[in-house]
Amino acid sequence: MVLDLESLPGDAAQRLAEAARNRRHAMHTPVIGTSDGDLRIMVLREAHADLACLRFHTDLRSPKAVLIGQGAAVSVLAYDPVERVQLRMKGTGRIEHEGPVADAAWACAAASSRRCYLAEAGPGAELGRPGSALPEALLDRAPLLEETLPGRAHFAVLLVEVLSLDWLRLTHRGGERARFARSHAAAPWEGAWVAP
Ligand SMILES: Cc1cc2nc3c(=O)[nH]c(=O)nc-3n(C[C@H](O)[C@H](O)[C@H](O)COP(=O)(O)O)c2cc1C
Repeated sequence: MVLDLESLPGDAAQRLAEAARNRRHAMHTPVIGTSDGDLRIMVLREAHADLACLRFHTDLRSPKAVLIGQGAAVSVLAYDPVERVQLRMKGTGRIEHEGPVADAAWACAAASSRRCYLAEAGPGAELGRPGSALPEALLDRAPLLEETLPGRAHFAVLLVEVLSLDWLRLTHRGGERARFARSHAAAPWEGAWVAP
């Protein structure tokens, strides 16, 4: 397959959009990096066609939500071992707790997905014993939809505007790699082939 440099940001966006829809897709759970050097896996919920926005869900009480706040550098790493394609992205992340995007995301979230926001302690809070910090009654069942409503207070979206992309595919001939950058999501990508 002959690769066209200009098509690669779109290719990346398409892979991520598919990964967001399909929980069996290898890129469904990318690694998210923050400016403190920490990394964690998060479920990719949505990818816009132009990589202007990657959406994740998170707990407002988590350290990363506090760190990212209204705007901070974020990196996203995804790998598809079947296609042997790695996507490395950097951009600006922001946490939205209120507003139409967070409201719509909460409205679409199933009761089983909302359950984690009912934990009595936020992610990273010390516990006296191992466990989930969920109310005892919800340990072995999904909550009813109305039981999830208090969880909205802890629910937030992480929105990442992708500003640089490193696209790498490994092949038996050594592979191909390209790097792209733009100053903001509405600006055109500037890209070049680079050695893998
Ligand atoms: C498969 C998998 C999926 C996860 N999905 C999410 C997610 O969508 N959102 C999230 O905030 N944390 C998710 N986590 C938990 C994070 O990796 C992390 O442990 C947690 O968010 C606390 O991160 P922090 O201390 O950096 O804030 C997931 C973990 C795994 C293993």
